[in-house]
Amino acid sequence: MFDPAIHADRRARLAAQLGDGIAIVATAPEVPRNRDTHYPYRHDSYFYWLSGFAEPEAVVVVIGGDAPETILFCRDRDETREIWDGFRYGPAAAQAHFGFDAAYSITELDARLPDLMGNRTRLAYAVGQDPAWDARVIGWLNAVRTKTRQGILAPGEILDVRHALDEMRLIKDAHELALMRRAAEISTGAHRAAMRATRPGGHEYEIEAELLSAFRRGGAEAPAYTSIVASGANACVLHYVFNNQPLKDGDLLLIDAAAEFGSYAADITRTFPVNGRFSPAQKDVYELVLAAQAAAIDAVRPGNHWNAPHDAAVRVLTQGMVDLKLLAGEVDGLIESKAYDRFYMHRTGHWLGLDVHDAGEYKLNGAWRPLQPGMTLTVEPGLYIRPADDIPEALWNIGIRIEDDVAVTESGCEVLTTPPKTVAEIEDWMQQ
Ligand code: GLY
Ligand code: MN
Ligand code: MN
Repeated sequence: MFDPAIHADRRARLAAQLGDGIAIVATAPEVPRNRDTHYPYRHDSYFYWLSGFAEPEAVVVVIGGDAPETILFCRDRDETREIWDGFRYGPAAAQAHFGFDAAYSITELDARLPDLMGNRTRLAYAVGQDPAWDARVIGWLNAVRTKTRQGILAPGEILDVRHALDEMRLIKDAHELALMRRAAEISTGAHRAAMRATRPGGHEYEIEAELLSAFRRGGAEAPAYTSIVASGANACVLHYVFNNQPLKDGDLLLIDAAAEFGSYAADITRTFPVNGRFSPAQKDVYELVLAAQAAAIDAVRPGNHWNAPHDAAVRVLTQGMVDLKLLAGEVDGLIESKAYDRFYMHRTGHWLGLDVHDAGEYKLNGAWRPLQPGMTLTVEPGLYIRPADDIPEALWNIGIRIEDDVAVTESGCEVLTTPPKTVAEIEDWMQQ
């Protein structure tokens, strides 16, 4: 599956944009959890997109201009550390395997960077992402400046390398789409297993365990984000992650969970009855959200702009809120005044890729950007009804979101995620 040419081509595209410049992209640090244990390591997505290299303590340098060059700095081989922690490529093997022009020990970074930066007109890195890294880069710049009397110029322009990388990451290639389909497939299987395992008397954490088990059995590295397993009123807490409550007969269960595979995220939400049968009120709200999602998915196609799916979902949801007596008034006016956001307070989607909320601008020159083939996004309308005197009691504590992942194609979009979704599909799957 790993193809160094894909990452080398991305570095070449960055080099072509740099002109006579240099880009420096570091991977993520290891993060302590408590005392001497660390959070599971996850590389930086920009760094990984450029390199395919997953070890910590590594930096990619890309040099543009007439003699473009790509350099990897990484950890040395270390027999003792490898006995304790596992394999490290070391610079020589990493250079060959990942297709760099040169590779050096990460311990040589401070010594080599000022020379590499000399006589480049511009310097691109993730400005302001990490104050310690900013200080280090400025240290190298100042080291170059000490050489001006030898005729060596320091870069005069500093830019944020993420602007160029965001635009490139936004359009997924065939290799990325294949990984995203696999992440979607594994996550779809996990939602199916979770629905099957749900019953009154169980607990939210048991369902979370089903999800995590299915992710790993499917070969995914990790969840793409912290799983939300929210029953009853918890579904109205948008970022609920306690996942510790009992599952009650008559409640709905909202699950927002998905896997990361090959470093690419899926992002799926399903909402279904704990006892396998929707009540009439639950069904009314569910079918409204489902209709909003269908309208939004229908709006995902080239020629439409980023916000068209959101506009479509808001219109369907707002009409439904009037029909359900959650709101009173004219739909256009309720949309205009954003009255709907009492029950629908988030957006209908986001870019999806290496990061669950992926790279890429949503507006260009002040206007929503047009959708283009190769863009991948979520479509995730919802409705969240908290108890209140002016709300029909049958609707209290109903929280519903339906979220799928789609890839924009030439003519519309491909829906990547397919757990049971209609009322009939969910009830059939849960009865079996
Ligand atoms: N699971 C994060 C989101 O839906 O945006
Ligand atoms: Mn999402
Ligand atoms: Mn989600």
